[in-house]
Amino acid sequence: MNKSLKKDTILKLLSSMSSEKEIRKYLERFSSDDYRFAVIKVGGAVIQSDLENLVSSLAFLNEVGLRPIIIHGGGPKLSEELNKRKIEFSFLNGQRVTTNEVLDVAYEIFSGENTKIVSALKDQEVEAIPVIGDIFLCNIDNEKLGFVGNIKEINSKKIKDIISSGGIPVIAPIGNIGSNQYVNINGDKATLALAKEIVPDKVIFLSEIGGVFDSNEKLISNINIKDDYKTLMEQEWLHSGMKLKLEQIKLLLDCLPSNSSVSITKPLHLNRELFTDAGYGTLVKSGHQIDKLKSLDSDQKNTVVSILESSFKGTLNNKYFKNDDKEFYLSKCNRASIVTTSFKNITYMDKFAVISSARGEGLGNAMWNKMTSEHKKIFWRSRANNAINSFYKEVCDGFQKSNGWSIFWIGIDSLDELIECINYAVKQPATISYEK
Ligand code: ARG
Repeated sequence: MNKSLKKDTILKLLSSMSSEKEIRKYLERFSSDDYRFAVIKVGGAVIQSDLENLVSSLAFLNEVGLRPIIIHGGGPKLSEELNKRKIEFSFLNGQRVTTNEVLDVAYEIFSGENTKIVSALKDQEVEAIPVIGDIFLCNIDNEKLGFVGNIKEINSKKIKDIISSGGIPVIAPIGNIGSNQYVNINGDKATLALAKEIVPDKVIFLSEIGGVFDSNEKLISNINIKDDYKTLMEQEWLHSGMKLKLEQIKLLLDCLPSNSSVSITKPLHLNRELFTDAGYGTLVKSGHQIDKLKSLDSDQKNTVVSILESSFKGTLNNKYFKNDDKEFYLSKCNRASIVTTSFKNITYMDKFAVISSARGEGLGNAMWNKMTSEHKKIFWRSRANNAINSFYKEVCDGFQKSNGWSIFWIGIDSLDELIECINYAVKQPATISYEK
């Protein structure tokens, strides 16, 4: 079948499932993001038993100009091979203990599985590029696990380069320590790390079963982490493997923009899942989650410092955390924070920061709403030339300019109180310094 005929056939097939308008909407949405379209995890079992559907779904994406990042597993095949060769192996907390001997077989098997996908894609004229090693820089996860990598850094440039030259990277779950030592990495963990690095529109898990099923074996079409997660995790009928996966998906969504989503589906339904509203699989979405903290542990402190310093482009005074009446709002994704103190039982918003890559996603609004829902009287100051002032002017009850500052407030009715607050705000020492 020639190329454009193939495209027409598939579009027609999809159109029989929903309107062409709907399909075009998704085509447009996914096309806007070059390398950020999708990270697709191909489960090891899929390579063994569903390669044909996988390849035709991916060939269609390629046909319409969408280049996902493929990462695959290989666990089932590896176990099979180790058994065949009578090499003993075990698991520790769901991770394969990887001796030198296991590692050699793992490398061989994962490369082999990688080649299967790559050559099947090439047969369909898809420019698939194998990526085996040299992309996940690791350290040893845990001595007891042997050669299992914990990802420290990802060479995302290599992936982006492949995509921008029109290729589709097919990545094996193999990492490196230094230049000569390979390590085994858990495919789902690698997917998570990769998705955090790439921040794709979609993360897709392709498996044999193709979704989350309820107690009646009915496919659960939508899961909203905020509303459904807790109840779902309490269900006896949800098997432990799926719980583990959902747990990981939740962790991932906590780190991605709120419009990102994760789909679990099977190769045959991939395009229906992507290009129709109803989809065919399980769609998992998050919503912003924001924690309020009375004190910070050292990791949280570092996070808040880096959010503040990157959004204000300065250096935070090292005594900043000395004052202990501070309260912190911290987004689960570690990309926004509000710090408050209080003055005469009135809340003083000392910092409000959203890192630049997270702006425009409604995260700032969600932070703001959470803070204002918990405090009725609030005042804060901002430099007169700060771009956020137009937002502040919209949400405040009033503001006053003084000494190069604008002082804003909400819920403060008494004039005496207000004057005290304004004076207090103006007098606060600077806590961020800027290089001259
Ligand atoms: N096509 C849309 C997407 O990929 C919606 C998918 C809906 N899927 C579902 N299982 N409810 O984001």
